[in-house]
Amino acid sequence: MVICSRCKSNEAITRIAYAKMNLCIECFKKFYVNKLKKTIEEYHMINGEDIVAVAVSGGKDSVALLHALRNAYPKLEVKAIHINLGIEGYSKHSQEKVEELAKQLDVELHIVDIRKEIGISIDDFKKTKFKGKMCSVCGTVKRHIMDEAAMNIGANTLATGHNMDDFMTFMAKNFITRQWNQLVKLKPVVPPLMSGMPKKIRPLIKFPAEENMLYCYYTKIPVNEVECPHSKGAKTLEVMKILNELFKDEPNMKYQVLGSFLNLISLLEDAMKEEGVIPCRKCGFPSKDGLCSYCKRIELVKSISK
Ligand code: AMP
Ligand code: FES
Ligand code: ZN
Repeated sequence: MVICSRCKSNEAITRIAYAKMNLCIECFKKFYVNKLKKTIEEYHMINGEDIVAVAVSGGKDSVALLHALRNAYPKLEVKAIHINLGIEGYSKHSQEKVEELAKQLDVELHIVDIRKEIGISIDDFKKTKFKGKMCSVCGTVKRHIMDEAAMNIGANTLATGHNMDDFMTFMAKNFITRQWNQLVKLKPVVPPLMSGMPKKIRPLIKFPAEENMLYCYYTKIPVNEVECPHSKGAKTLEVMKILNELFKDEPNMKYQVLGSFLNLISLLEDAMKEEGVIPCRKCGFPSKDGLCSYCKRIELVKSISK
């Protein structure tokens, strides 16, 4: 039996390779919440007066984030946002899990059902030129709705559950394809683009997917284990697999590469001036040419669904 390196009494259930520690269930949960607090403090993500909206999809990352954030800061004003994307065989189940969790944690939950509120579903994009890029168009819609929902409930901070593997994958993809303007958006904290919009924070930037999964498992919180039908074969997943293989025997290297990427981003940011944004004529959100990417996509899908 391997003994926990922290309490020296219970049986260890996991090895945190980069910290060279074996941890039992209780010590792992404390380690996780403590690591979350340290990350939030390191990047000055939250201050005492903030009202934080956590975007919860029902997947392991955002569910773990909401639970651990409540544990780490019991006095912080935290609300949850869930978007029902109208994806057949997926969205209903996700919403149920989020509702269960919010009830368990006694967190105010705001649900945006895009079929009811906008009159379209993500599945409708299958009839448009975006049919081969479902995750990408879904991302644009989600980002817009998350911002809007956070503003509607009076939150000045929007927290998402992007994990370390998501970051590494986006970074690798944008680095290889030289999307420097996309790369600079990958920061742990993104200040509001326009006044009134929320600041975005990504507190799980240093949490590999497995750690979030373990936290959910040992805290026994509700998680949606159903995979989104549009994610099958997505490019991002392929890149993620390759990266995981690369760092399999060198867990520390993952943190070093993440650190180098974050350094690169701040250098790039200094070198590049933020592109100018103008308000979208339809929704008032930031856009490059007077109509934001969200409104362009909603106009398109509505014109086809008529
Ligand atoms: P994804 O883009 O699916 O990798 O999700 C990244 C993050 O966005 C998640 O960790 C959540 O914080 C948030 N998110 C994704 N989908 C939803 C949803 N349907 N409702 C609320 N938040 C979401
Ligand atoms: Fe958006 Fe799957 S959750 S396409
Ligand atoms: Zn718009």
